[in-house]
Amino acid sequence: MYLSKDEERILKGEYGYAKQKAMEILVALGDLYEAERLIPISSAQIAGVSYTSIGDEGLEWIENLFDGRVEVLSTLNPLGMDLDRWNIMGIPMEYASKQVRIVEAYMKLGILPICTCTPYLSGNLPTPGSHIAWSESSAVVFANSVLKAKTNREGGPSALAAALIGKTPFYGLHLDENRRPSVSVKVEMDLEEVWEYSVLGFYIGRILKGGVIPFIEGLKECNLDKLKAVSAAMASTGGLNMFTANVLGDIKPIPCETLSFDYSTLKEVIETLPENITDRGSVDIVCLGCPHLSLEELNTIAYLLKGRRVKGDVKLWLFTSRAVYSAAERCGLVDEIVSVGGEIYRDACPALAPLSSIGYKVMATDSLKMWFYGRHLAGVKTLFLPTIECISTASR
Ligand code: F3S
Repeated sequence: MYLSKDEERILKGEYGYAKQKAMEILVALGDLYEAERLIPISSAQIAGVSYTSIGDEGLEWIENLFDGRVEVLSTLNPLGMDLDRWNIMGIPMEYASKQVRIVEAYMKLGILPICTCTPYLSGNLPTPGSHIAWSESSAVVFANSVLKAKTNREGGPSALAAALIGKTPFYGLHLDENRRPSVSVKVEMDLEEVWEYSVLGFYIGRILKGGVIPFIEGLKECNLDKLKAVSAAMASTGGLNMFTANVLGDIKPIPCETLSFDYSTLKEVIETLPENITDRGSVDIVCLGCPHLSLEELNTIAYLLKGRRVKGDVKLWLFTSRAVYSAAERCGLVDEIVSVGGEIYRDACPALAPLSSIGYKVMATDSLKMWFYGRHLAGVKTLFLPTIECISTASR
């Protein structure tokens, strides 16, 4: 990969240790993918923040970068806990103190402690066509597809390296020729609920392999919540990083193979989820907010909880960003939900929380991404349910 004189100086260490290490990562990545050069980015979203994922080694690595400073707006992925309310979640003190140290180490690099998988609802909102380096998989799909920004799915170290240099290697989805759809998915039913979009995304991710870009046709209307649900589920099963759709003003590729998604497909996806728990009586925690809940979703949940109360033996945990939480608090939604026994956490992802070591065994969720990662990362059994049934499982 070609480097400018200034980039070469960074690589030689003339701008300090952190930038040198960052440039080494970008050069290795650029050489691997045969990138021609580095291009400037406008923002970064950095994974590798949860103590569950990076452990002591990762913490030490970030703390060693103390002489660096990011060049662009940079936010973080969610953690395994709310930074203020970790003790209410049941997170052990030792885990929490390591987690706080990780976030503080990132903050010393100039990274904002905005820990969310919906950075676009929290001030990290790239403009169409801009190059960015994001790592959270649902946010990557959303950014490429809905926001029309351009990013590869970065790992934690490469997103951090891009933030420290303000550049990323020019390859993959940064190139227009790699952003064209080649398969069409025809939706032949009216999708109404957000959870149905999660099933659509899961189906597309299961059928198509990473690198393929689908065109979704037949959608009649689609709000932000539905688009983030489809983005998240698609990324969890197939490693897909982008889709196009008629509702986003994209053009159908012609000719192309066409797959169909109808009511029987939706039913088949749910009925064939491997090891999906079917006994609702065994659920001890219901988690909603994957990706982090929007204000409208919190409003819907508050509405569904009206006249009900969370059961004594089931937790109802809701996950959102601090920005949305503040707005919900101002609107009275936080009080409404908390007063009937719901718990709302910020900064956190339930899949990254040590749920099984806290003692939870079975989680119900309306997100197939959470269904997938709950069992693989948090160590609990999982049950997928429509949102309204999640609420009725958690409350009476
Ligand atoms: Fe966000 Fe965690 Fe889901 S990072 S998209 S809540 S798996």
